[in-house]
Amino acid sequence: MKDAAQAGRPRPPLLLNNIGTLLTLQGGRDPRRGRELGNLNVIANAAVLCRDGKIATAGPEREVLKHAKELGADPEIESFDCKRGTVMPGFVDSHTHPVFAAPRLLDFEKRIQGASYQQIAETGGGIRSSVESVRSASEVDLAQGVLAAFRHMQSSGTTTAEAKSGYGLTTEAELKSLRAIRQAAGEWPGTVVSTLLGAHVVPPEFAEKPHEYVKLVCEQMIPRVASDKLADFVDVFCERGAFTLPQTELIFDAAREHGLGVRAHVCQFSPQELSRLKRFSPASFDHLDCLSDQDLKSLAQQDTVATLLPGASYFLAHSYPPARRLIEAGAAVALATDYNPGTSPTTSMPMILSMACTQMKMTPAESISAATINGAHALRLGGSKGSIEAGKDADLALFAVSDYRELCYWFGGNSCSAVVLNGILMKN
Ligand code: NIG
Ligand code: FE
Repeated sequence: MKDAAQAGRPRPPLLLNNIGTLLTLQGGRDPRRGRELGNLNVIANAAVLCRDGKIATAGPEREVLKHAKELGADPEIESFDCKRGTVMPGFVDSHTHPVFAAPRLLDFEKRIQGASYQQIAETGGGIRSSVESVRSASEVDLAQGVLAAFRHMQSSGTTTAEAKSGYGLTTEAELKSLRAIRQAAGEWPGTVVSTLLGAHVVPPEFAEKPHEYVKLVCEQMIPRVASDKLADFVDVFCERGAFTLPQTELIFDAAREHGLGVRAHVCQFSPQELSRLKRFSPASFDHLDCLSDQDLKSLAQQDTVATLLPGASYFLAHSYPPARRLIEAGAAVALATDYNPGTSPTTSMPMILSMACTQMKMTPAESISAATINGAHALRLGGSKGSIEAGKDADLALFAVSDYRELCYWFGGNSCSAVVLNGILMKN
């Protein structure tokens, strides 16, 4: 994880004043579940003081201004007038695939004409059609694409992003993809968490010997990625046509052996027996569109975050994950974009919130918690990200709306007017 606040650049304190509505999401050390998901901790007429990349104070404006005065540094404080807008924690987009070289327009048109995502994948399209261009791209070009994606994310309020490899599918091309993420992360003031997704699909040259590809992931990719410190997590696309549960277990065993966390794409198109992966304590299970009732209940008892990706359901015109049932059962639900060229070409978290509300019947408050504090927990960053509390990283998003529900109500536009990333103010 890269964190500009730890880079040690001295900055003057930053005061965000004249905030009409502040959502702190303060409270608790665990991911939000059930009714807690709707508790945003809303403060009217507020301010936030940031210092050394962290939140110093947040709350009613009078109190924050008093604290700023006590610091005795008034002349040096940089003030920013929020013009009565809404300030909240920056979005934590906990699931993205930004390392690709081109959009997949042929697949898009084929789907419009009636082919399914899986039919396209079976005939050589899908993930496999992004592989050649990533293998032949330079690291610098890939890094530029990733940086452009981070900047797009930032423009609609994202301050932390997870980024996966997964379109290289050779050890060298996966390492190159992860280095591209690292290079882009070094140029972006936000926070990046990297994930190795070498097990995205079996590449064509291993079509007849998938077990050998799994061996390569376990015995070459994972050890190299761990020794070069190129990723925090290992992900697997566990699905018919991608990797089986036993293969996922082998890959998770290797990840654990090398000190990497695990997460998985599961139940996107068909149900899987998730209980078999419970022993690995994955940080998150993502998609869950086809979750069985039994797994739904068991997920509610686990620390694993249920990360829902409505952008993929929207783009594939596929059923949405059972958000209401998950919340009511007590699962820790997060929301993310799944930004990728095949199933979810969007970097916009506000668009995801709109889908969560209109298509999955989450309330605006629930969707905001899922996209901030629970996203942070999905990346095991709940202690430093996802809420506005003294001591946490100064990651904020300002929207030019007076009621937070408008974030989910207006769709297709962008009301984000500024973000603070690890204490650095960036205006739109
Ligand atoms: O999360 N399902 C697997 N991976 C991506 C899709 C990748 C692609 O089609 O390029 C997803 O939806
Ligand atoms: Fe994905």
